[in-house]
Amino acid sequence: MINEACNKIDDPNKGTGKTIAVGRFGYMIPFVDLKAQYRSIKNEIDEAIQEVLENAWFVLGPRTADFERLFAAYTGARYAVGVSSGTSALHLALLTAGIGPGDEVITTPFTFVATVASIMYVGAKPILVDIDPVTYNINPAGIEEVLSPQTKAIIPVHLYGQCADMDPILNIANRYKLLVIEDAAQAHGAEYKGRRAGSMGDIACFSFYPGKNLGAYGEGGAVVTSNPDYTRRVMMLRDWGMERKNQYDLIGFNARMHGIQGAVLKVKMKYIEQWTEARRRNAEKYNQLLKEVEEVTTPTEAEYARHVYHVYVIRVKNRDQVHKKLVESGIGAGIHYPIPVHMQKGYSILGYEAGRFPVAEKVAGEVISLPIYPELTDEQINEVVASLKSSL
Ligand SMILES: Cc1ncc(COP(=O)(O)O)c(C=O)c1O
Repeated sequence: MINEACNKIDDPNKGTGKTIAVGRFGYMIPFVDLKAQYRSIKNEIDEAIQEVLENAWFVLGPRTADFERLFAAYTGARYAVGVSSGTSALHLALLTAGIGPGDEVITTPFTFVATVASIMYVGAKPILVDIDPVTYNINPAGIEEVLSPQTKAIIPVHLYGQCADMDPILNIANRYKLLVIEDAAQAHGAEYKGRRAGSMGDIACFSFYPGKNLGAYGEGGAVVTSNPDYTRRVMMLRDWGMERKNQYDLIGFNARMHGIQGAVLKVKMKYIEQWTEARRRNAEKYNQLLKEVEEVTTPTEAEYARHVYHVYVIRVKNRDQVHKKLVESGIGAGIHYPIPVHMQKGYSILGYEAGRFPVAEKVAGEVISLPIYPELTDEQINEVVASLKSSL
């Protein structure tokens, strides 16, 4: 999963007793380089954290409120509510939408498990639909056939930083009076026909896990919506269901954003667009270098999309072997995701057999994520491509 980005990927041999692999330049190219990004904005970040410490704004606090305003404006929605993780954002969004036991929620099997887990947290039933073979997002053509009187919502996931095909999804939701909750955990700044991820559904959920395109220095997430009633409810749910001091009108949670995370994210909002453009440039460089390599399928940016390349995902037939060789040659390559959610042991309770979602299952066996962070240099991209070619 993408979470390996920030801590485990530094050393792919961790726990194996082997030494760290080094590439031909004598160093490893990590999957993400969070230290390089910190160095580039160190003074501003240190000052922002210092301010939180000196004022003891440890939980929520004014910098989190500043960040919420900036982030709402960035997504094009009216409100953003800072919470403790992307998973909390999904959980609270589902509760806010009134989804619970007896309800069904449609989503994709090719996502990080949190999307499906959050549906189960509220006691609803996840109903999975296979993916589109080009964008790897939920295939809208499969949604209508799984609708039932219990269906309450659709959660499209904007996987890898590219939006799901939202118009047909919104159209179905409109016709059948379903809610749309965008899982935009990987899609900060992504666009669909000029509309930003987070502004299209009834509610949207973002993650600020450190390796994300907009990453906190710890856990963090946000619920984004233009509905003032939903906003109020999420604000209560993240803070123990509190209506006002000593009055708890809902059974809520401790899911508030930490003040330090709000302050860090506020600083990073200044850079998100330039970092996104750098990711897009790096993706274009990979595309150019790999376009003649027959064995490799490069990612397709859909005509409707501004892809923000949270991960740059190629496909190859002999994936496990190529991935192993890449890692051995010092390239921090990842796999997102090797096992679709319906084939994970913990989710066997959903009752889906292997073979049920053939596109997701095929893609899961072929994907490799190459390093794509904004600070990646041309020299490093050339090195990744050279190692990839010799691993095929
Ligand atoms: C698609 C998707 N949804 C939800 C989440 C959960 O976010 P978090 O790790 O912040 O709880 C993630 C994070 O990896 C994700 O990739």
